[in-house]
Parts: sequence; C-alpha cells; structure tokens
Amino acid sequence: MKKKYYKIIATGLIAVQSCIGLQALGPTMVANRAIHETYHVIVNKQNPVDQHFKPKTLVIPKVRFQTPGNIDKNYMEREAAYALENMFKDATASGITLVAVSGYRSYDYQNNLYQNALRKYGRNQNGTATPNDSEHRTGLAMDVTGISGGTIEESFEHTKEGQWLAANCYKYGYIIRYPKNKTAITGYIYEPWHIRYVGKELATQLHTNGLAMEELARCCYEKVEMSMEIDGVTGHQKVSVVEDQGTLYIDLEQLGQRIGGSVGYTAITQMSTLTYGKYYLVAGPNWLNGGGEKNLTLGDTLYVPLRKTCGILGLKLVEVNTQQGKIKVATRN
Ligand code: DAL
Ligand code: ZN
Repeated sequence: MKKKYYKIIATGLIAVQSCIGLQALGPTMVANRAIHETYHVIVNKQNPVDQHFKPKTLVIPKVRFQTPGNIDKNYMEREAAYALENMFKDATASGITLVAVSGYRSYDYQNNLYQNALRKYGRNQNGTATPNDSEHRTGLAMDVTGISGGTIEESFEHTKEGQWLAANCYKYGYIIRYPKNKTAITGYIYEPWHIRYVGKELATQLHTNGLAMEELARCCYEKVEMSMEIDGVTGHQKVSVVEDQGTLYIDLEQLGQRIGGSVGYTAITQMSTLTYGKYYLVAGPNWLNGGGEKNLTLGDTLYVPLRKTCGILGLKLVEVNTQQGKIKVATRN
C-alpha cells in the first residue's frame, strides 16, 4: 500500500538522544531508540552539542573532494559517509559530478570559522554557527559543490549539480538542512550546499512536505509491536502502534490483516479503506470516516488513532498495555 503523502504536525520539537554520543539536545530525551533514529538528532542554536563531543565512527567517504587527503573536514560519520558515496556514484552515472568540501569539524576548526565570520560580518551574521551550534560537529553534515564551477554560495542552487542535489539527496537520506525562506525557523541563511544525513524515511518526509527539521512535531516515533487478542484469541501476527501526544495510533494495514478485514488504497484520492464485516472505514491525510482527523504517515505506513478506529469498526477496546505489548479487543457482533 504505497502512500505519496506525509503528515507532520508542527507543534514543537522532541530531539532524540543519540547513540552516536550527542547529549542534551532538546527538551525531551527519548532513550532506547533504534539505531537509525539516532540520525534524527537536531543541532541548532537552541540545541548545542557538548564542547567535547566527537563522533565515534568517523571515516573518509570515497568521493571526490575539493581538498583531498587525510584532513578532519573530509571525515564523516560512517553511515552518512556510505550514503554520500552512493549518492555521488549515482550522480556521476547521471552526468553530475559532485564535490565534497567540508564534513566533520572539530570544536577548534568551527571556532576558527566562527571568529572569522564575526570579524567579517559582525554579531548578527547567520551564515556560520558557533562551534557548539554547528551540526558539522556531528559528522552528519557535508558541504557539497559541483565540478561545473559551483561554490559554497547561494548561486550553487542554479547549477546543474545544485539542482540535482536538491531534487535527489533525500533518496539517500540527506536533506538540504537550511532551506530557502526558512531562516526564521532554522536560524541560518539558505544554504543549498549544506546537506545533512537524517536517514531515508525522515529525509523523504521533510522533502515531500518542504519542511525544515525544526518544523516537526517530533522527528521520530517509537514503534511498539503489539500482540492483539480478539475475543480471547491471540494471533501470531503483531500490529505496530506509535504514541503521539498521549494518543495511540495503529498501523491500519496490519490492523486490517489481523482482524481479517479487507484493506485497499486509492492513489488518486490518497485514501485507504478497510472493510470489516458490515463496517467500512476510509482514512487518509487529515481524514477519518467523514471527519477531519490527525493520522500519522510514517514512511509508507498510515497510522490511525486506535481507540477511534476500533469504534468505527465495531470493536470494543478492552485493554491496551504498551509495556506488555498487548491489545485486547472484543467484537460486538
Ligand atoms: N553554515 C552552517 C550553519 C554552520 O556553520 O554549521
Ligand atoms: Zn555546512
């Protein structure tokens, strides 16, 4: 069931404690995340990294560099580096030659850049981050230019490399971290050259919705696999549930399969349907059976509010225990 829409509510921000070692990143720490979610970490003026932080696994990606060699700024965090290699390779296959300019930066290196920017542009400059506010410190960012004369300037946007990067980087898990006209949100000027690794799922969500990282309600959800007991019978098939602001949302397709319903999806309307006995449910972005409803689309999966959905399907929600990973429902018919 492929979905071409992503729903993200912009009401605040939860930054994620990172397994790669970043601390004190946001108002809420969420522990025990899956590894890929560590790449959702937010570093900005409100969420600095620790002065002594250094990523654990830094490698030099096998890509074309502006200044080749074993120098700090040619390093990246390992997974980000592999993704960069794949992207550069595919770009080359499409006749686009990208050039990596600046990746990992130590505190001292970024401090140098920042002091230079201060001297040149004064305190109100918003082009260069302070040493603790720069996500280059994480090894997850890379400044990229093109072989056709592009530089680390806004004009890079108009080069064929800049255009390719903007259109394709999300497929490799990267985003243009400081989008156009979002300075008030990100705190930095438009930087068409600065890409940041966040993983494919989040990159796709941000790209599709034209959002900066700061505009997410939360940048990742913890999926809990639950068993489902129906009228006292527990099936083998699990269902995924995520929690958002106190409400539980369930994977509609998995729910349909577990209860023996029939699930469909219409690409034109972007609506999913679930037929279950005499009950019929239709859900999509902001929509659930005749009314506006917050649903969550994570990757290709539509999550609908559990309690409400059970009500629509004539199921009585007897018990939900996320600790034990158990949902109990009773059929009414
Ligand atoms: N140019 C970006 C904001 C940095 O200095 O990290
Ligand atoms: Zn940068």
